Formats: sequence, C-alpha cells, structure tokens
Amino acid sequence: MNILLINGPNLNLLGTREKELYGSKSLEDIQQDLLVLANEHQCNLLTFQSNAEHEIIDSIHGAVEAKIDFVIINPAAYTHTSIAIRDAFLGVKIPFYEVHLSDIQTREKYRHFSYLSDIAEEVITGLGAKGYEEAMLKGILKYRSK
Ligand code: DQA
Repeated sequence: MNILLINGPNLNLLGTREKELYGSKSLEDIQQDLLVLANEHQCNLLTFQSNAEHEIIDSIHGAVEAKIDFVIINPAAYTHTSIAIRDAFLGVKIPFYEVHLSDIQTREKYRHFSYLSDIAEEVITGLGAKGYEEAMLKGILKYRSK
C-alpha cells in the first residue's frame, strides 16, 4: 500500500512553534515515527511539507500517478481558506484523512470551519502527533483489502 502524508504551512516549525498547542516533537520526528509504523504494516509512506498552496495541490494531483491508496493531510491554515485544495481532492478522488494536532473546534471561531471536513474520510483533531498514527492505522484497516 502507498500512503501520502502532506503537511501544510508552518508545520515545518513544529517542535519550536507554539509548543503548548502543537507539542514539542519536530515534523522530522513525527515523520520518522510514521515511517516506522508504515514499515511495520508493509506500507510505503511518502512525506511532503509545503508552505505553498499550489505545491500542496500539485502533490495531491501527483498522488494519482504515484498510485497512492490514501492521503493523510494536515492542511494547517489552508484548512480554513482553501477551496482549491478541496477541489484537488474532489478532482483526484483519492480518499483522505484530515488531521489537526490541536482541537480546532475549541479554538478561535475562525478555525472552526474546514473546507475539507465534509469530504474527508475522517477528521482527527486534538490528539497531537498521535492523530497522524490514528489516521494511518484507520486508513490501512479500511483500504488494505480494496
Ligand atoms: C492546525 C490547526 C490550524 O488552525 C492551524 O492554522 C495550524 C495547525 C493543527 O494541526 O492543529 O497551522 O492544523
């Protein structure tokens, strides 16, 4: 199975950025742990982070040719603004899990709305880095047999 992990803007700063909200693990550490987990389940994990909306869209488009079975994405602030990322997922028809480290529903009002949640396979928020692991395990269970 092929899994693509996409992290959006400012998530390259994890580990130093607003630790009380996002935890003290760096993105590299998170990705490393997920690579181990993917390996344990005989899956390939591709990882991608960008601060640019168009690069995230291009990586979603590229998932078709890369034969990605499902995507795990933390779209960060683009969650609340990007119709273009929504359209990219609708265009490629690849299932995706939306992950947020913090609980966006209990934060500022402008973070409550997501352009992706209603078309996501599932939304996992507020579990910190564990949320990515949960998304991966759910995706493996669901798409393994398909
Ligand atoms: C985030 C929540 C977003 O509102 C915020 O813009 C982020 C990170 C999270 O993981 O909790 O950058 O997606």
